[in-house]
Amino acid sequence: MTMDISRRSLNSGLLSAVGLVSLWRVSRPGIALGAAHGHVLTAREGVAQLVPAPAPPTRIWGIDGGAPGPTLLLPLGEEVNLQLVNALPEPTSLHWHGMRVPNAMDGVSGMTQDAVEPGESFDYRFTVRDSGTYWYHAHNRSWVQNAMGVHGMIIVPEADPPQVDQDIGLVLDDWRLDQDGQIDHASFGALADWAHAGRLGNWPTANGVRLPSLPVRAGERLRLRLLNVANARILTLAFPGHAPQVVALDGVPVMPHAVPATGLVLAPGQRADVIVDMDQSPGTRATIDLVSAGEPVPMANLDYAEEGPLRDNSLDAPFALPFADRFADPSFDTAVSAPLDVAGGAMGRLAGATVDGQYMSMREMAGVGRLWAINGVAGRPDEPLVRVESGRSVRLDLFNDNSWPHVMHLHGHHMQAFRGAPDVTAAEPWRDGVLVQPGERMTIGFVADAPGKWLLHCHMLEHQAAGMATWIEVV
Ligand code: C2O
Ligand code: CU
Repeated sequence: MTMDISRRSLNSGLLSAVGLVSLWRVSRPGIALGAAHGHVLTAREGVAQLVPAPAPPTRIWGIDGGAPGPTLLLPLGEEVNLQLVNALPEPTSLHWHGMRVPNAMDGVSGMTQDAVEPGESFDYRFTVRDSGTYWYHAHNRSWVQNAMGVHGMIIVPEADPPQVDQDIGLVLDDWRLDQDGQIDHASFGALADWAHAGRLGNWPTANGVRLPSLPVRAGERLRLRLLNVANARILTLAFPGHAPQVVALDGVPVMPHAVPATGLVLAPGQRADVIVDMDQSPGTRATIDLVSAGEPVPMANLDYAEEGPLRDNSLDAPFALPFADRFADPSFDTAVSAPLDVAGGAMGRLAGATVDGQYMSMREMAGVGRLWAINGVAGRPDEPLVRVESGRSVRLDLFNDNSWPHVMHLHGHHMQAFRGAPDVTAAEPWRDGVLVQPGERMTIGFVADAPGKWLLHCHMLEHQAAGMATWIEVV
């Protein structure tokens, strides 16, 4: 086995069709859909060389047997047909995180579809509405299946992408491995983790490799697509010696801005696209570091070629990605509103909550694996948080009334968060996952414009499993 990530440039009909001139390097050979825009994704057991040889490979579950699975390059504006074949030993489903798909294609087992049984398949068909960086992952027992590796990146190229020399996807994970380098199965379901930050790992990888080497050349401009697929760990990334500009968050273009000195924060499920100029000298080894775990931990090496530089003059400042008018601004005057009180966990003050229609004390809740509640209900309730007509604005008053950060992910919609009073000038960028700190209050707004039942949950997957889930219904 090798530690190399794929260095193949993709040279497919799709990419030339959309006029990409840059060299694409993605986590695994990217899969560009053929003429019929169809592809089979087989969820099955496999192995990944998470720990460098001579350590044995780790047994994982993954799409087409890899973790991460193949990066999917989906054509903007086209209908695609992604067929999930389940060759795993348990039921599964796939969710297209951040993408606006019809409700029946959203992949939430037990809500938008039945889980796909072993040996069965399911056709996900949808029109690709938005360019950007997204991902797919298992959405049945996702606290196990995502941790086992059932996920991958989705790239929808812009019709008119910014010129870069390399476009690199980095799927960042946080595995929990045992002494033998195998997935620590014993820790699945450990309530101590569920009541705290979730199941944190001990083995960080980028594209399924511990510390991959990314070959670069002085003078090059890179686009990095950063995705946090960890179950629970918030990743704060630093780029010592470089000055990346953030150009998109959760698939949505933003005005280019520098990564803050404290680092780029990616909560589970979040993505950032950054543009970074390789302005160090030939021969340099630089790193992308994880700085949220105390001492910086390098996640990837940027290895400058000895030759170079590629260009004599430095490039102009990166320009914004093409802006698309995707989301209507919510109107708080006419909004349907609801509180979103998040409580529970260790060191909190939740005394009890309703579980499957019955009030339970915190101790009784722990007995049935529920530790978190939204508005006093632990677990997805029978009735939605709000039921609104399509086109109406929704306002959620979020109070994170506990001792832990959370990342609230809404299916089918992006949200705008307002810290303090809702005021257009204070709106944060559109996101499909909003990170909220302990004790923090914020207002969340969006226009509910996609009919169906949409899950709203913490993307720290143990928190979701332990009760932090609700839903909205758009009629
Ligand atoms: Cu990325 Cu409901 O999930
Ligand atoms: Cu959480």
